[in-house]
Amino acid sequence: MKNLSKSVCYLTIILLVVGCKNQTQNTTQNTTQNTTQNTIEYKIDSILKLMTIEEKVGQMNQYNGFWDVTGPSPKGGDAEKKYEHLRKGWVGSMLNVRGVENVKAVQKIVVEESRLGIPLIIGFDVIHGYKTTSPIPLAEAASWDLEAIKNSARIAAIEASASGINWTFAPMVDISRDARWGRVMEGAGEDPFLGSKIAEARVKGFQGDDLSAPNTVAACTKHFAGYGFSEAGRDYNTVDVGTSTLYNIILPPFKATVDAGARTFMNSFNELNGIPATGNSFLQRDILKGKWKFDGFVVSDWNSIGEMVVWGHAKDKKDAAKIAITAGADMDMEAHAYIKELATLVKNGDVDQDLLDDAVRRILRVKFELGLFDNPYKYCDEAREKEAIGNPKHHEAVLDMAKKSIVLLKNENNLLPLKKEGQKIALIGALAADKNSPLGSWRIAAENNSAVSVLEGMQQYTGNKLVYKKGADVTIGESVFLYDAKINTTDKSGFNEAIIAAKKADIVVMVLGENGFQTGEARSRSNLNLPGVQQELLEEVYKVNKNIVLVLNNGRPLTITWANEHIPAIVEAWQLGTETGNAVAQVLYGDYNPSGKLPMSFPRNVGQVPIYYNYKNTGRPADIDGNVFWSHYTDVEKTPLYPFGYGLSYTTFKYDNLEMNNTSFSINDEIKISVDITNTGKYDGKEVAQLYIRDLIGSITRPVRELKGFELVDLKAGETKTVNFTLNKETLGFYNNTGEFIVEPGGFKVFVGGSSTAILEADFELK
Ligand code: BGC
Repeated sequence: MKNLSKSVCYLTIILLVVGCKNQTQNTTQNTTQNTTQNTIEYKIDSILKLMTIEEKVGQMNQYNGFWDVTGPSPKGGDAEKKYEHLRKGWVGSMLNVRGVENVKAVQKIVVEESRLGIPLIIGFDVIHGYKTTSPIPLAEAASWDLEAIKNSARIAAIEASASGINWTFAPMVDISRDARWGRVMEGAGEDPFLGSKIAEARVKGFQGDDLSAPNTVAACTKHFAGYGFSEAGRDYNTVDVGTSTLYNIILPPFKATVDAGARTFMNSFNELNGIPATGNSFLQRDILKGKWKFDGFVVSDWNSIGEMVVWGHAKDKKDAAKIAITAGADMDMEAHAYIKELATLVKNGDVDQDLLDDAVRRILRVKFELGLFDNPYKYCDEAREKEAIGNPKHHEAVLDMAKKSIVLLKNENNLLPLKKEGQKIALIGALAADKNSPLGSWRIAAENNSAVSVLEGMQQYTGNKLVYKKGADVTIGESVFLYDAKINTTDKSGFNEAIIAAKKADIVVMVLGENGFQTGEARSRSNLNLPGVQQELLEEVYKVNKNIVLVLNNGRPLTITWANEHIPAIVEAWQLGTETGNAVAQVLYGDYNPSGKLPMSFPRNVGQVPIYYNYKNTGRPADIDGNVFWSHYTDVEKTPLYPFGYGLSYTTFKYDNLEMNNTSFSINDEIKISVDITNTGKYDGKEVAQLYIRDLIGSITRPVRELKGFELVDLKAGETKTVNFTLNKETLGFYNNTGEFIVEPGGFKVFVGGSSTAILEADFELK
């Protein structure tokens, strides 16, 4: 305690002195500049003056949690070194230290024992919930419900911040068109417009209105940039994208988070045009900090500074450190390159001191904004931790999010919703009883097996006779975070009893898909089938009972062409987090009418990948004269199995009366579009009405469709509502190949409907 008061006092005195000095120097100027931000900048100036080069580099150094910090002092290897560095003030941030007791312990070391006592910023991957887990981000994106998504991020921030964390490595905003890439589960899918809106909602949810409040956390937009285009969907692979795709598809969600106030960014593992993103000045300096005026800081991805050596871009770690700081990477996550090399590089004149000061200024700025200098322990309140983590209100919120994330893919003859009584139901599939997989792969803070399983959810509806049979395991042995899930490709010993149960049932509900650790980082797949023996199980059960409801649990689009041809009802239930089983049961029994729409196209087979709705027309889009020379496959249609934006409801919707306020507009006009939507079915329901445009002629060819608006509309059975959309120059323009946003006059088409294949259309001219 003595030391704590010493360092806090020391800092306070210096800050006051500098503040006073500035006041006397320029009183008039101060009156007008007396904003919080200016005060922060003055304080940073004064701290920078006190810091040695080593202490500055220390702020740029982030270490992973390393030992039981509340236990005895570390002994041996890395831990001892890290402990020493904390005491010297050579660590600015830690990740993966969580829980009030642990965070307090590390914070106490730097605050009480280091010379300047600058608090740590504590980072953690709060990707979809903390202990109470929400649906995987791709699933949340399927809700198209920005308020719900924002609220889900809010809940995650409340729990994480109560656990000592003040910085999340989210949102992940990588657009991807390739379902083989395991990390599609972490993003918002294939579309930059939807992706930008969701990215913005997530930042606002995490950061709230006041970053200094104890229950908000700094967001970190990642992975900057291009990571979602890893070649062939193989994680960490080369990225090779054209300029137009970079500016129009990849960058917009990143920009949206800067505009929404995201305080930090993470760079990425991939290279772009041969330069690793971590050492890429064009991305980090020219675009992010230059053009977009981002004044927060950039953290590297895990050892991505070190990996530049392996890429063959840097000679050694020293070279890598120089390249990374020059390119604008402010903080080194676990490469130990900055802490080892940067001070010498600066002292030898190989790296400009100003670069160091700029990076440290950015890091200190965020620490000030979080209020860490006012109280380094503000996220360390045991009582709040007890109250917040796993709070029943959070369960309600993630249940709400989970229901909204479900997409009804097929419902022939209205097999769904299930009747609530008088039926014999066979529930089949190992995932039906799985309480772990639904938590997805980013659930480090969740307790194992803490999700409500589909079996448990369905058991609450007691009017039917429910029999559960596993049929077959998806994986062999335990699947854990750090290792590949081993898929069961041989054991079919459970088939028989599943088939017997199916024979005796009126309806069979089969829960099939991917293990929670089969998607996520490093979990790329080369085929997108139902893994292991599940397809065979499905076909065997189908032979004895055709009344099957297939519930999919998965983290990416799957190729379910056979199921689409044969199975009457298909429900995409992703990995929905803690409340999975309750959400699925409520949807199956019709207590919630599904309203989700796909944020990624589902391919017919893996050979179609990458597949996405906003493709270019090509010069040969259709079979005009009956010969072979047009853009197609000879063995499969070129359309997806289910397109982007697609999803059914227990009711039906009709769109008509598409109207516009004019047919010819000048560039600054607002274009008003309205459409009538009628609920033509028997159930109340919610529709996600979508508006797409096509810019017919472009100096750079334009996609056949681009999402430019969407509205969630609640409609009672039989009700009609008029829905309004607005287009303007922001939505009609695009980036040219020098990154300039332009709007070109000419003809446009507008399409409105319930998916990217909407047929209701109108034309207008932009003059
Ligand atoms: C991932 C990041 C993550 C970081 C820290 C990396 O492997 O790519 O998304 O934030 O680890 O856990």
